[in-house]
Amino acid sequence: MDKLIARAAEMVINSNLTLALTGAGISVESGIPDFRGAGGLWSKYDPAEYASIEAFRADPEKVWQMLRDMDEIVSAAKPNKAHIGLGELEKMGYLHYIITQNVDNLHQEGGSRNVIEYHGNSNTLSCLWCGKKYKSDAKRSEFPPRCECGKILKPDVVFFGEPIPPEALSRSFQLASSAKVLLVIGTSALVSPANTIPTIAKQNHAKVIEINMERTHLTNSITDIFLQGSAGEIVEAVVQEIKRRGGGNHLM
Ligand code: APR
Repeated sequence: MDKLIARAAEMVINSNLTLALTGAGISVESGIPDFRGAGGLWSKYDPAEYASIEAFRADPEKVWQMLRDMDEIVSAAKPNKAHIGLGELEKMGYLHYIITQNVDNLHQEGGSRNVIEYHGNSNTLSCLWCGKKYKSDAKRSEFPPRCECGKILKPDVVFFGEPIPPEALSRSFQLASSAKVLLVIGTSALVSPANTIPTIAKQNHAKVIEINMERTHLTNSITDIFLQGSAGEIVEAVVQEIKRRGGGNHLM
């Protein structure tokens, strides 16, 4: 593994455009379950019944049962070594953008500023009827949270059946088509369109470094370096190796 970590560090040091695509796996060590792993959220809640925009419109109070479970966990979660390590890489100039599928805001709390959120962010709520927005913190004591117009509020996260924010889509595709290195961290890469990012990067000759507890369908097809293990341990090891080799800030 040390040799693979060294090769990955070298690739990042020699890259003038490095991206990270992250999924729920990067936040598991912060106490947030992933979706498809053992004990994942979808083993408790059927996404068709709880995570589609149709389900929310049909029965928002039912969907808020899942949302409240998640909110209790996410609001207590803190960034882990992986989030913090990526924040350090950005500060050192070795990581340029994160494209995340997560809605937990932990990349931002871990120090990253250039974060493209594919599935929105659970920090704010919106009223589908009158458009008014609220901070999730301001409504945490209400269940389900209601707008002053009386309707039940929806978190500003992308449900199945809703579009990815257009600016997130266009910016991420543009970046992926010119990236030199793509880190793929903690995602099963099963959900489109986020899972097209590795393909776009690879087609444009990027090096793909995958960090995951398990192999995915990318591992034998797109991944150049597979670093198997927990995101916190592996990201920390890569950052330490970059510091050891690269020293200070990246000027490319
Ligand atoms: N370190 C590294 N990888 C991990 C860890 C960990 N500690 N724990 C789990 N993983 C890996 C799993 O092996 C799996 O490959 O993270 C991945 C999590 O996959 P999913 O649960 O499918 O989550 P994700 O890929 O983010 O799902 C994408 O699907 O349901 C939708 O909107 C939801 O954004 C989500 C999207």
